[in-house]
Amino acid sequence: MLDALQAQPADALLALIKLHAADPRDDKIDLGVGVYRTGDGATPVFKAIKGAEQRLVDEQDSKSYLGPEGDGGFVSGLMPYIFGENPERGGRIAGMQTPGGTGAVRLALALAQKAGARRVHLGTPSWPNHAQIVSDLGLETVPFDHALPDGTANLDAVLRVIREGGEGELVLLHGCCHNPTGIDYTDEQWRAIADALADSAVLPVLDIAYQGLGHGMEEDAAGIRTVIDAVPEALVAYSCDKNFGLYRDRVGAFYVLAKEAGDLDAIMSNANMLARATWSMPPDHGGAAVRIVVEDKDLTRDWLGELDDMRERMRGVRERLAAADGDIPGLNLSALADQNGLFAVLPLSSDQIAALRKDHGIYMAGSGRINVAGLHRGNIDKFIAALATVAG
Ligand code: LMR
Repeated sequence: MLDALQAQPADALLALIKLHAADPRDDKIDLGVGVYRTGDGATPVFKAIKGAEQRLVDEQDSKSYLGPEGDGGFVSGLMPYIFGENPERGGRIAGMQTPGGTGAVRLALALAQKAGARRVHLGTPSWPNHAQIVSDLGLETVPFDHALPDGTANLDAVLRVIREGGEGELVLLHGCCHNPTGIDYTDEQWRAIADALADSAVLPVLDIAYQGLGHGMEEDAAGIRTVIDAVPEALVAYSCDKNFGLYRDRVGAFYVLAKEAGDLDAIMSNANMLARATWSMPPDHGGAAVRIVVEDKDLTRDWLGELDDMRERMRGVRERLAAADGDIPGLNLSALADQNGLFAVLPLSSDQIAALRKDHGIYMAGSGRINVAGLHRGNIDKFIAALATVAG
C-alpha cells in the first residue's frame, strides 16, 4: 500500500534551517524561518519563561492528563490580552489550548468544515502552511491579493471577497504582523472589514501569531477586537511561539465567538472531539509556563519588557533598511519602515535569491521573504551591500 505514495517536497521554510546550518561560512546570515533573534543573533529563552519554568520544577506535583482543552488557566489568562475588556463578551467566547498556532488554525478550519464550510478565501502571499492545511482538510483555497505594489494592504480585494462571499465560506485574516509581507490593515481598514463582515455570511478566521511584535500588545489586537465586536461569529487562532519565545514547546490557543452564549457548549464539544481525534491533548509544559507568567505581576512585567525590547530592535532594523532605499532602487525598501513584525518580502527574482545564498551566504525564503530579526549591527551592512550587488 505505502509504496504508492508520491514523494512530497520538504517544507521549504524548514529546509532553510538545515541549509543554513550546513553552510561553513562564518559570516553567513539566516533570514529564513521566523524566529526572533537578539542583536547578537541569539534566540534566548525569555527571562520570564525561565522564571515560570523554575516554579514548575519546584511546585508542579503531577503530570497527569489535563484533557483535550489543555490548561484552562492558560486559555483564560491570555483572553484579556487578546480580547481586551469583557474578554468573554458576555459568555460568547470560549477557547482551548492547542499544539502551537498551527494546531489552532487546523482546529478552527476543521470545526468550520464540520459546520459546513467548503471554501477559504486567503489573501496571498500568506504563510505557506495556511494553504497546505486548507487543502489537507479537503477545503478549497480561493486566493485574493493581500497587498498593493506600493507596500500597503489591498482593502478593496478583501472587501470584495467578503461582500461577494456567502454561506459555507471563510476568510482567513492575519491579526497583525502579516506573514510574509509585514503589511497590516490600518485601524480604518479593519473598521471597513468588520462592517463588511457584519453584513456577510462569510465567517472570519483570525490568525494572530505575532501579538506584541508590531506596535504593542494592545495595538496589535485592535483589528481583531474590531471584528469580534461587529460580527455574530468568529474563530481565532493564537500562537505563543514568538511573543513568549516558546517555538519548540508548541503553545497555541483556539477561541470561538458564538452568536449566543448558549451555542458555546455544542460548538466546544465539537472542538473537543476534533482535538481528541487529532492530537488527543496538547503538550502542557509551555502553556503552564505562560499561565504562570500572566498570573504573576513581576513575571508579566519582565515578559512585556522583553517584548518591548524585541519590537524596538526590529523597528531599528526596519529603519536602517528603509534608509538604504536610495542606494538600491527598485526594492522599495522605504516601505519596510511602515510594515510590522518579523517579515518583509523583497521583490527579488529566484536567480537573485540564489546568488545571495551562493555568493554571500544569505539565506531567505524563495518568495523573497526576509526575517528582519536575522539582521543586526554586525551583519546589516553586509546584507545591504550584497543586495546592492545582486539587485542594484
Ligand atoms: C515562519 O513562517 O517562518 C514561522 O511561522 C515558522 C513556521 O512554522 O513556518
